[in-house]
Amino acid sequence: MIATAQAFGVDIGGSGIKAAPVDLEQGEFAEPRLKILTPEVSTPQSVANIVKQELEHFEVGEDIPVGIAFPAPIKPGQKLNFMANLDQSWIGVDVTDVFSEACGRPVTVVNDADAAGLAEQQFGAAEGQNGLVIATTLGTGIGTALIYNGVLIPNTELGHIELPKGKGDAERWAASSVKDKEDLSYKQWAKRLTKYYGLLEKYFNPDLFVVGGGVSRDSEKFLPFVKIDTKIVPAKLRNEAGIIGAAYYATTKVSR
Ligand code: BGC
Repeated sequence: MIATAQAFGVDIGGSGIKAAPVDLEQGEFAEPRLKILTPEVSTPQSVANIVKQELEHFEVGEDIPVGIAFPAPIKPGQKLNFMANLDQSWIGVDVTDVFSEACGRPVTVVNDADAAGLAEQQFGAAEGQNGLVIATTLGTGIGTALIYNGVLIPNTELGHIELPKGKGDAERWAASSVKDKEDLSYKQWAKRLTKYYGLLEKYFNPDLFVVGGGVSRDSEKFLPFVKIDTKIVPAKLRNEAGIIGAAYYATTKVSR
């Protein structure tokens, strides 16, 4: 691993497990990232093995903090009690222990959307923003991070708010994976996003929405059609935010 990297970040998603050494002075990858597909049966063992391979690939030194962005609410020292998009066998597991054991060193685990939100606040689209920022990731699911005056309020799960009129869980109606599955046009999808962000706007009155996830690279195709009053901008770090935020978070926390 090259010398400018100060931390190593991993982002675990429903479709891929991505990792890279991160230069935290610049807030960018120190080397091109590696992506390995998420195993179809995404058990703790199979996912942890891939993270281990990624650390080996980059020859991550023992002294480098390792941060892992994970798609569920994470409370250090507590067992996982909710999992939407990976195998249900994660429930009841201490996620930090599983990864620390597989990696042969203490690692820090953080919710993936919280990691992305922190990265955007530190290095990206929400840099210097005061008041309430709601950073969202649109992917397999919908992740949310609430940041108030630069301070993260962790583990919000606003991708799972119940939509009115019996439409159910928001992410099952408005995530970008649903756009693909139902073959919605960007304009059709933007109508759903208008309803979703409109609800968040009504209940939280944020000062800024940041829209991340892989699809944010095409933001000009749908964000102009999201009709809400609050300022809404694409993530600057896009799909890299989870890795960068996890690496950053690992340096701000004392690993267990
Ligand atoms: C999970 C969240 C996660 C989001 C994005 C949701 O289904 O419950 O914890 O942040 O997906 O991965």
